[in-house]
Amino acid sequence: MKETFVYIGSDHAGFDLKQALQKHLQSQNYKVVDLGVFAVEPPADYPDIAHEVAEKVRENHGGRGILVCGTGVGMCMAANKSPGIRAAVCESAQTVEMSRRHNDANILCLGGRVLKPEIAVQFVDIFMKTPFEGEERHVRRVNKIDKKS
Ligand code: RB5
Repeated sequence: MKETFVYIGSDHAGFDLKQALQKHLQSQNYKVVDLGVFAVEPPADYPDIAHEVAEKVRENHGGRGILVCGTGVGMCMAANKSPGIRAAVCESAQTVEMSRRHNDANILCLGGRVLKPEIAVQFVDIFMKTPFEGEERHVRRVNKIDKKS
């Protein structure tokens, strides 16, 4: 079976949650590639990490990304600048699920200052396990997103 790579990154505000999510993903046998940051200090600029993770997800079709900053918002804005990236910032299980089913999201952005770690772990599980529905209307809409980038 093909291994699923997960590229993970955070800024200083998302560091603790990133570490927890990485541990969880490894316990589920995903191949996790940590693109930093590797410490809370010094503070980091979230777009630098978002662009690195987005690049890896673009290179590795079928790979997924997880980005964590204070709110998830800045990471999501930055990641979505890369062609072929469909990053979703989510604060509910339902939006995580629908980001996969209807939008074929390939990066999940989370807020380390917003979510409890146990909730974030649940979101990551949903993100990793939920398939894209792949119906014609969803494919058409996702293609329209990608055509613009
Ligand atoms: C850092 O203080 C904070 O602005 C950043 O982590 C993020 O929340 C931006 O969207």
